[in-house]
Amino acid sequence: MTTYLSGIQPSGLLHLGNYFGAIRPQVALQERDGDKFYFIADYHALTTSDDPEELRGHVREVAISYLACGLDPARASLFRQSDVPEVTELTWLLATVTGMGVLERAVSYKDKVARGLKPNVGLFLYPVLQASDILAYDSDFVPVGGDQVQHIELTQDMAGYFNGRYGEVFHRPEALVPSGRSAKVPGVDGEKMSKSYGNGIWLFETGKRLKKVVGRILTDSRPPEEPKDPDGLLLLDFLALFLEPGELEDWRERVRAGGEGAPGYGHLKVRLVEAIEEHFAPARERREALLQDPGEVDRILERGAAVARERARATRDRALRACGLR
Ligand code: TYM
Repeated sequence: MTTYLSGIQPSGLLHLGNYFGAIRPQVALQERDGDKFYFIADYHALTTSDDPEELRGHVREVAISYLACGLDPARASLFRQSDVPEVTELTWLLATVTGMGVLERAVSYKDKVARGLKPNVGLFLYPVLQASDILAYDSDFVPVGGDQVQHIELTQDMAGYFNGRYGEVFHRPEALVPSGRSAKVPGVDGEKMSKSYGNGIWLFETGKRLKKVVGRILTDSRPPEEPKDPDGLLLLDFLALFLEPGELEDWRERVRAGGEGAPGYGHLKVRLVEAIEEHFAPARERREALLQDPGEVDRILERGAAVARERARATRDRALRACGLR
C-alpha cells in the first residue's frame, strides 16, 4: 500500500501558498488508493514560537482549515505531530548519524539566521525532526510545495546514513510537487508567499480586508493602454491560480494588446477579489460550522493520532533494535 504523508506548521494563519502548494493537492490524493497521513507540525512551530495561547489557536486553526478545505477523516488521518512522541525518539537516532555540515547547509536554517533570527538548537535540528516525521510512517510520497524539496532530499540522505550503518530500516521517500505556479505561489510583494514574510493572503479573508491585502499586490505606474508582457505581471500570476483557462487567456490577451480595451491594475484586482471569495465560499461555510463544534475537531485529531502512532511505533521499534538499543 502506498503511503502519502505531509505536514504544515501552525506558525500562523494558512495562506494561498499553503493551499495551492500543499492542501489542495493533498486533498486530491484522497481519490487515490493508499494511506494518507497529514499532520500539524506543532513541535516544529516551537522552534520559532513563544506564545502558548497563540500556538494553541494556530493548531486548531490549521486543523479546521484542512477539514474545511476538504480533508476527509475517513480517508486521511489528520493529527498533531506532538501526539506521536515516537517521532522525537527517531529524531535522536537520526541526529546521531547526521553530520553537522549537512545541517549547516539547510536553507530553512540559513534563511532564518540571515533574517536576524537568533537560532536555537531546535531550529538547527529542524530537518532531522522533519526527516523523522517522514520516515516514521514509511512514507513513499511527500506532497509538498517546491520550497520543501531540500528537506525531502535531506530525509533521503539521513535514511541512507542510518541504513548504511545499521541495515535497511528506513524507506526512501520521494517529494511530490505540484506543477506550474502552485509549486511556488508568490506573495503580494512578488517574493515567495510565506507566513513569516508578512506577504500572505489568508485563505478565508473576505470583504474590505481582502480588498486591502489584494490592493498591496505589487504593480507599477504604466498606464492600462500601454501594451505589456502578461508573463511579467504578478496580478496575472494570482489570477492564473483561480480562473478557467479561457477567461485567463482573455485577460492576458487584453493586457498584451493594450489600447482602449485593456484592463487597468485596479480592474484585475477587483476580479481577483471576486475569484478568491468565490473559490473559498464553500470552505468558509464549512469552517464556520467547525468553529461551532470544537469537540468534533478534537475527536478527529485523536482518531488520526491513534492510527499514526501505531505506524510510528513499529518503525521506532525497528530502528531501536537495529542500532542495538533493544
Ligand atoms: P510550511 O508550514 O511552511 O508549509 C506547509 C506547506 O505549504 C507549502 N507552501 C507553499 N507552496 C507553494 N507556494 C508557497 N508560497 C508556499 N508556502 C508554503 C509548503 O511547501 C508545505 O508543503 N517544514 C514544513 C512542515 C513539515 C513537513 C514535515 C512537511 C514538518 N514536517 C514532513 C512535509 C513532511 C513547513 O514548514 O511547511
